[in-house]
Amino acid sequence: SKHRIAVLPGDGIGPEVMQEAEQVLSLLGEVDPTFQCDVTAFHWNSDYYLEHNRMMPEDGLERLKAFDAILFGAIGDSRVPDHVTVWELIMPIRKKFDQYINYRPVKQLKGIRTPFKDMNQMIDFSIIRENAEGEYSNSGGRLYEGTDRELAIQNTVMTREGIKKVSQFTFEYARSKGLKKVTSATKSNAVIHSMNFWDEVVNEVSSDYPDIEMERIYIDALAAFFVQKPQAFEVVVASNLFGDILSDLGSAVVGGLGVSPSANINPSRDYPSMFEPVHGSAPDIKGKGIANPVAQIWSAALMVEHLGRSDLHTSILQAIEDSIAAGVTTPDLGGKSSTKEVGSAIRNHLKIR
Ligand code: NAI
Ligand code: MG
Repeated sequence: SKHRIAVLPGDGIGPEVMQEAEQVLSLLGEVDPTFQCDVTAFHWNSDYYLEHNRMMPEDGLERLKAFDAILFGAIGDSRVPDHVTVWELIMPIRKKFDQYINYRPVKQLKGIRTPFKDMNQMIDFSIIRENAEGEYSNSGGRLYEGTDRELAIQNTVMTREGIKKVSQFTFEYARSKGLKKVTSATKSNAVIHSMNFWDEVVNEVSSDYPDIEMERIYIDALAAFFVQKPQAFEVVVASNLFGDILSDLGSAVVGGLGVSPSANINPSRDYPSMFEPVHGSAPDIKGKGIANPVAQIWSAALMVEHLGRSDLHTSILQAIEDSIAAGVTTPDLGGKSSTKEVGSAIRNHLKIR
C-alpha cells in the first residue's frame, strides 16, 4: 500500500529544496515499485498567514493526523514575526503528535571537508535530543518589573517518564545499530536538581542494557570534545536545551546547515513523525536557485527509513555522496552548481545504483 505523506514546503528556500526532495521520492517509486508514496502538499506558510491571520486552518492538525509521515521544509519570513511561525505551526505539530524525540545524525558525508585537518576517520554519530520538556518550559516569570530588584525565573521541568522515554529510545537505538556506547550530556555538578535527576534516571535505564556502555560527560567538556575528537562518539542523549546546542555544533562539524537533516519522532507511532532540515528559510539566498537541497533530501531519506525502508535510505545517502564526489555541489560547499543541478545529479546516481 502507498505511504501517505503530507508535504509542507513552507517559506523562502523551503519550496526550492522541497521540490528536489519530492522528485527523489517519486523516483524511488520508479526504481523500486514496492515503495510508493502518495504525496499531499499543504501550503501553510507566511503567505497563508497574511491571508488568513493564522498559520494553518483550524482543523490543520486533524488533517495531518491521517498521514503516515510529514515532510517539512522551513518557515520564516520577514513579514511575520518568527515566534508566530514557529509557535503556531512547528510547535503545535511536535506537541500534538507527541514527537518527543529529536534525532539528528552527525555524519560526515564522503567528500565533505570538515574544519579539521588530518582526519583519517570519518565522523559518524547521532544526537538524540529530548524534544518535549526540560529547559524549554513556560514555567516561570518576572517579578518587580522595572525596579532595581527585578528578577526572572525560568523553571526546567523534567519528569521521570520523560527522561525514561528518551533514554530508552536511545539505548534501543544503540542496540538496533550494534553500537557499544551511549554518551549522556549532563551538568549535574552545577545544575543540581534537574540534572541530577536526569543522571539518575538515565543510569537506571542503562542498567537494562548491560551490553552497552554508558558514559556521562559535562556539557561544557562535551562541546569541546565535539570539536577535538568527534570520532569518539556513537550516540549522544541530551536534554532539550543541551541537545539543541549540541546538534547545531554537530552540524557545523560535518559540513553545515546545507547538509543537516533531522527527525521529530513519535516512537509509539500513534501519530505521524515529522522530518525536516535543521536549516531555516534562508531569506538571504531565497529565489537565487543556490540553496543546498541535500539537507531536505536527507530528511526525506530519514522519513523513508522510518517507514521501514532503511535500504532505500542507504541508497539515497550513497547517491548524495556520489554527486558530491562528482563535484556537483552548491556554493555553501564550495561548488558552483544550482539547487536543481544538485537535485538531478542525486537522482541520476540513484537511478544508476
Ligand atoms: P537559516 O538556517 O535560514 O540561515 C542561516 C544561514 O545559513 C544563511 O546564511 C543561509 O543562507 C544559510 N543556509 C541555510 N540553509 C541553507 C541551504 N540549504 N543551503 C545553503 N545555505 C543555507 O537561519 P536564520 O537566518 O537564522 O533564519 C531565517 C529564517 O528561518 C527565520 O525566519 C527563522 O525563524 C527561520 N527558521 C526556521 C526554522 C524551521 O522552519 N524549522 C529553523 C531555523 C530558522
Ligand atoms: Mg536550534
